[in-house]
Amino acid sequence: MIFAQLSDLHILPRGQLAYGVVDTATMLAEAIEHLAGLPFAVDFVLATGDLVDHGSAEEYEHLRALLGALRVPCFLAIGNHDGREALRSAFASDGALVLYPDVSAVPPSGTLSETSSVPVSVAAGAGTAPSRAPVSIRAAGLEDSGYLQYMVEAQGLRILVLDTVVPGEGGGALCVDRLRWLEAQLAQDEMPTVIAMHHPPFATGIAHMDAISLKGADDFEQLVARFPQVRRIVCGHLHRPIQADVAGTTALTAPSVAHQIVLHLGHQCAAPGVFPRGSDCFVMEPPGYLLHWWDGRRLTTHQCVIGSYPGPFPFRTD
Ligand SMILES: [Fe+2]
Repeated sequence: MIFAQLSDLHILPRGQLAYGVVDTATMLAEAIEHLAGLPFAVDFVLATGDLVDHGSAEEYEHLRALLGALRVPCFLAIGNHDGREALRSAFASDGALVLYPDVSAVPPSGTLSETSSVPVSVAAGAGTAPSRAPVSIRAAGLEDSGYLQYMVEAQGLRILVLDTVVPGEGGGALCVDRLRWLEAQLAQDEMPTVIAMHHPPFATGIAHMDAISLKGADDFEQLVARFPQVRRIVCGHLHRPIQADVAGTTALTAPSVAHQIVLHLGHQCAAPGVFPRGSDCFVMEPPGYLLHWWDGRRLTTHQCVIGSYPGPFPFRTD
């Protein structure tokens, strides 16, 4: 089973650019096109927050239209640029934040539930992927009010989606209530588990991003350390691919499918000639996304670079 992690989409109303520069809608469309062109099947997509830029209903309507190009289910996590209630209104369905693909192989809304298990067609989109057995996906746990947390199960792997948002703030938090939900989920059984959340539970060395990091990270780490079935902690927020060891497992952030955060380790004023207004800048490095391959025993993560590049070339020239 393979699932793609897309992060930090930052979709705006139609026709608007992020920061007056970034055409995030076109870049998301290009990411989906890249995903659809992979020569193997992807089973579902997980988007790790900052789905839109200002949390408005108009932005979520635009996002919904763009994600409609996906041929697999797309599960969503909230980020600090999102609006909790607008996101819930746009995507809450049957125990999860999810958009189903509009293809006949996928059942209509109402069939993913706490008690049902749904086989989902795995064709990524281009029709070039080799066929294999459908993957059964089960989602549950999203409540009618409160935090946007839920779980997804597929092929013996559980994904616990957490809500790290503090309304009005760039930084995130995991409070007692949210951690208690996580603990209850982990305590149910020893199923291999991925935790998905927008704010990473580790300092990155990028000063202006560490200033809007995750409150409660120490409590989170102590909790996760008690549950060795946690195989990965997958995050967004940083707009860069970064890995760190947390609680005996690997935590990572995904690149953005749009703009990337400038890589500058250290204090913001360390390079005034390079960053005359501070290092809290973005850069249009090639965007990307992650592919997580679960073979039933181990989770292996690959980074994909979006775009067209020369090749592939054979190693043998004779
Ligand atoms: Fe972001």
